[in-house]
This record gives sequence, structure tokens and C-alpha cells, in this order.
Amino acid sequence: MNKHQWILSKNRFWLIALFQAVLVLISLVSAWLLRFDFSLPERRVLLISAPVLILVRLAAMARFKLLHGWWRYTGFSDALDILKAVSSGSVVFYLVAQLVPQIRPFPRSIYIVEALLTTGLLAGVRLLSRAIAESVRQDKALSKGVVLIGAGFAAQLILREISRPDSGYVAIGCVDDDTSKRGMKISGVPVFGTVDQLPELLQRHPADEVLIAVPSASGEQMQRFVSICEQAGIPFKTVPALRDIIAGQISISQVREVNLDDLLGRGPARIDLESVRRLLKGRTVLVTGAAGTIGSELCRQILKYEPARLVFVDQSETGIFYSQLEFSRQQTGAQLQFCVCDVGDRDRIKGLFSEHNPQVVFHAAAYKHVPLMEANVHEAVHNNVFKLVTLLEVADDAGCENFVLISSDKAVNPTSVMGATKRIGELILSSWPAGSMSCVSVRFGNVLGSSGSVVPIFRSQIEKNRDLTVTHPDVTRFLMTLHEAVALVLQGFALGNHGDILVLDMGEPVRIVDLAQNLIRLSGKTGQDVRIQFTGLRKGEKLFEELFYPDEVVHPTSCEKIRRTCGTSAGWPDLKASLEALKTTLGIDGAGPILAQVKVIVPEYSAPESAGAVPVSDSERALKMAAGNH
Ligand SMILES: NC(=O)c1ccc[n+]([C@@H]2O[C@H](COP(=O)([O-])OP(=O)(O)OC[C@H]3O[C@@H](n4cnc5c(N)ncnc54)[C@H](O)[C@@H]3O)[C@@H](O)[C@H]2O)c1
Repeated sequence: MNKHQWILSKNRFWLIALFQAVLVLISLVSAWLLRFDFSLPERRVLLISAPVLILVRLAAMARFKLLHGWWRYTGFSDALDILKAVSSGSVVFYLVAQLVPQIRPFPRSIYIVEALLTTGLLAGVRLLSRAIAESVRQDKALSKGVVLIGAGFAAQLILREISRPDSGYVAIGCVDDDTSKRGMKISGVPVFGTVDQLPELLQRHPADEVLIAVPSASGEQMQRFVSICEQAGIPFKTVPALRDIIAGQISISQVREVNLDDLLGRGPARIDLESVRRLLKGRTVLVTGAAGTIGSELCRQILKYEPARLVFVDQSETGIFYSQLEFSRQQTGAQLQFCVCDVGDRDRIKGLFSEHNPQVVFHAAAYKHVPLMEANVHEAVHNNVFKLVTLLEVADDAGCENFVLISSDKAVNPTSVMGATKRIGELILSSWPAGSMSCVSVRFGNVLGSSGSVVPIFRSQIEKNRDLTVTHPDVTRFLMTLHEAVALVLQGFALGNHGDILVLDMGEPVRIVDLAQNLIRLSGKTGQDVRIQFTGLRKGEKLFEELFYPDEVVHPTSCEKIRRTCGTSAGWPDLKASLEALKTTLGIDGAGPILAQVKVIVPEYSAPESAGAVPVSDSERALKMAAGNH
């Protein structure tokens, strides 16, 4: 800052006040001249009233914060403040004039003309200042030229911010699929044409970046926008998705890279928030597996429905430590309890139920890694089946009212022991004796970015410039964003009746190889930088997942993204007897007897050997270990 700038900034307030005082004086003298045919009679009245009027006007301007001088940001609210300051100043000046005999003869018409001229001058200099700042734009050379995709409400908000001299952007134009918008201007920025015309338009109007300003875009629309930008060879960013926009506000600081959620998001699900709130508000909720991906997101979303108390349960001490770190800072009003606890430890879990009296349980604690569980059959069955039974018994005895099991699409025609245990879980919930506790399962496919899943593994491989390991070129999975899946789990919980299996609509299955290619593109790398290597299906894995058994009767629900089926249960006494038999196999060496009894309970279960696992060479086997769980 040089000496002149320093003096200016120090005295800024007084200079601004002085400048506006001069404007008031100009208005007053001009009003006098207009009133008296360009002469200045009654000079004594004029001379005495001028300083009084100036003081009154400055005081009113100070009252309405019009002395700061940041005129290049002038907007509608400043115009309103000028009107308020001038009118209140005129009233005060009129009252003062009635008290001071020397000012009392102040001509009435001049009250009005002066007020109009002062309003015009105060507003005029501000507009002029803003126009000059925007046209001069000292930072123009440093600003990025940007073309917006979308010419709607979001684009309007963003353009308003871009028009500020220090935004770092210069808006060149917009494109929008609505052809009726072509040729119109939004905040002074022209709508050039449609999104498909973008590559051609960018030749005529070169830009540095494209900003996708369509917060409501579905995954499919986003994919189209992204490939058009790629075709045009221009970097792109986006605004937050609709659900992430707080209080309807979008600002330039929220502009971010396009991520996988944007490409796979299927648009906001319509959730009946009130029905969920009715069941959670003021109640005590217990979430098992609360440190895991699904469990922690459940806790995040449940807290928005104002429970009285939320009990976090997980066997992972470090996991619970991080939950505590994240959640205890939040001011939610709910009482939070962080419990390191194995849900199969009957005494400990009983203690938790008698201490906290949970009315609702979400059971997300489980072992989920398919190939790993193939090598740990005993643990998979013990954790996912018998610890579930223990938890159900304790919850039912303690008077819990709602129990929700997080299931998986791997429970349908399972080819893995993990999938089979999830199916047994569904059967247990479906056949649990109807009493005071309502039991439902929610079944869905893969959640993007969950712990140990394919996306974090691909990301780390891309970062290290390693080949991406995909099991098979044709392998597909149902994919959903974590937020959407959990929001629908909560909705399913509100919709379900005792025994229901609620199945989330996951859209079309996605080819994992396409997912890998999308991630490579979004990372800014190419197929040359990072290659894709096929490693062969691992034990227990399928080429594609299914959401329903062929004999399941499927019913729609009031939520378009949730369907309901009732399971095909033989009834609790029979299932209980089969489970007793399964329990005895846990005491026998080897996985064979366990798997044989699993097949008795889930006849559709086909052991991995017959599931068509693709053989792989030794070198590929090493790579397989690095491939994600999908
Ligand atoms: N992640 C997905 O894509 C996905 C999709 C559909 C269904 N599911 C199902 O959701 C459940 C949770 O999946 P996730 O991705 O959150 O897994 P995760 O591994 O991230 O979380 C599971 C949590 O459960 C805890 N846990 C396991 N056994 C426990 C026990 N006996 N007592 C206490 N805590 C225990 C673990 O410590 C872990 O923190 C699984 O049943 C899974 O099959 C997951």
C-alpha cells in the first residue's frame, strides 16, 4: 500500500461522508435554482438551512449504513436504504425547520425537489461506481472466462456473484436445453444456444472453463454434460446438488469438481420426512455398526429427525473414537452415547438396553467382504446370524418397538456365504414372532465409496498410477450414493410392516468397467496413464446381482423408490430348529457341515465352486488381492 492509498483508507469514512455532503449541497442548490428560475433569492434561509440539512442527511445515511463506500457491490437493498434514509431525513429536517425560525420559511416545493435530486444522486454515483468497476475489471486478465451450462435460477445466482470484480471469473455466456431461452440475457449474460452446441460455440467464444449450473441434474444428465465438455476439451466444474444446497443459496465458493455421486445420482428421492420424524422424534434410537459406512450415515441422518437419545454401538474401539470426534461437536439437542460393544455379547447388550431403553434399533453391524468371508465361514455365520439372534432376543425382551436389519442384494440367490448369512437374517426378521416389536429388513445393492469398496480402491490405484483391477469386463452392480441409500432406509423403516423386506430401487445396474473409466476421466487422467486389468471373479462373487427372488411377490409402496416383499419364511418354530442345527455345526471342524446346513435354510444358495468362478493365473492372483469389494 503506497502513502496515498494509506491516507485514503485511513480517512475513507470522512471522505465518503464529505463526498455525499457535497451531493446533498448540489441537490439543495439545484432545487433552489429550479424553484426560483435559476436565481438564488432568500440566500440567508439557504445558507442557514444547508448545514442543518447536510447534517440531518448524513445522520440518516449513517443510520442506514450508507457511509461505507463499497459502492461497486451496490444492489437492490442499497436502493431501499437510500429511499429510507432520504425520506426519514426529510421528515426530521421538516421538524427541525418548524423549531428554528431562520429555517421556517424554507420553500415547501424544495423539500420534494431536493429529496428527489438527493435520491437520484446517491443512487446514481453508486450505480456508476459499480458499472465502472465491472467494465474496468483490473483483474480481467487473471479471471477465468466461464460458460455456464444451465440458464435457470442457479445460473442467475452464480452470475450475480461472478459479476463482482473480485470473483475470479468473467461470464462469457450460457447454454441451456430450453430453446426458448436462446437469445435472452440473464444478468446481462447472453444465452448462446443449447448444450449440444457447446463445442461449436466455444470455438466462437473461447472460454477457460465450463460451469455446470444445474443442481437438479440427474446422473444421466450429468454424464451427458461431462461428455460434451470432454468432447469440447474444456475443464468443467459444477455447483452443489439440490439436496446439498442450504437454504436455497448457491455461491461461487461452493463450485467444485464433478464427482462420481454426480454421475450416478439419480435425482433426489421424494422422502416423506414427516412419517420418519413421527417415528424418531423424541425417541431413543440405537444403531449397531455405528462406526461403519452405513451405520455412521444412519446416525448422521437420524440426528436430523431430533431423537431424544442416540446410542452408537460398534465393536471397533477406534471406529467409535472417530464417531465421538465427529458427532460430539454437533449441537443436535440429542443425548449421544458412544458404546464399544460386540452385539453378540448378551450381558453387555442387555446392560445397554436396560440403561438406555432404545425404542428403535437399526442393525448395520455385520461382516460384509465376500471373498474374505469365504475363508472365514464360521465367523460370517456366527457374526451375521447368531449375534443378530442374540440382539433380537434382547431387544424384544427389553420392549424395543422397531427393529430394522440392513440387508444386501447379495442375499438374493446367494453364491457366497456372506450373501447366504444376509438371507438367513432376512428370514429371521420375516418370521420373528409378531408381538410388540415390528421387524423389517431393507435390501439394497452397493453403496458408492463405502469402506473397502471398489471406488476408494480405484481412487488409490489412480493416485499411484497403478492399473485398475476389475474382476471381469461384464461384471455389473447396483450402485447408489450413500446419502440416498440411507435416506431410503429411513423411509423404508417408516413404511414397513412387521415381516416386510423393503427393497430399494437402485436404477439400472452399472458396469464396473464403466465406473472405472468414469473415475479415470474425472481424475483428469486418460486410458493411457491408467490401464484397466481384468483379474477374474473371486470365490463367492457373481457377474451380476439381483434384487428379488423369482417367487417373491413384489408390492409397490407409497415411495416410488421402495418396493415391498414378504420373504418366503417357513415360520419361526421351523426356522429356529434349523438355526439350532446350524449352531451345532459351528462346533464341528471345517466349513463343510456349516455350509451344508446353510443350504438347508437357504435352498437357493449355490456354493462358490458351482458359481462359475473364473480361474486366474498366479500373477493375476496377486492383483486380485488388491481388487475392490464389488
Ligand atoms: N456398503 C455397502 O455397499 C452395502 C450395501 C448394502 C448393504 N450393506 C450392508 O450394510 C451393513 C454394513 O455395511 P458397511 O458398508 O457399513 O460395513 P462396514 O464394515 O463399514 O461397517 C460395519 C461395522 O459393523 C461393526 N461390527 C461388525 N460386527 C460387529 C459386532 N458383532 N458387534 C458390533 N459391531 C460390529 C464393524 O466394526 C464396522 O464398524 C452390512 O451388513 C452390509 O452387508 C452394505
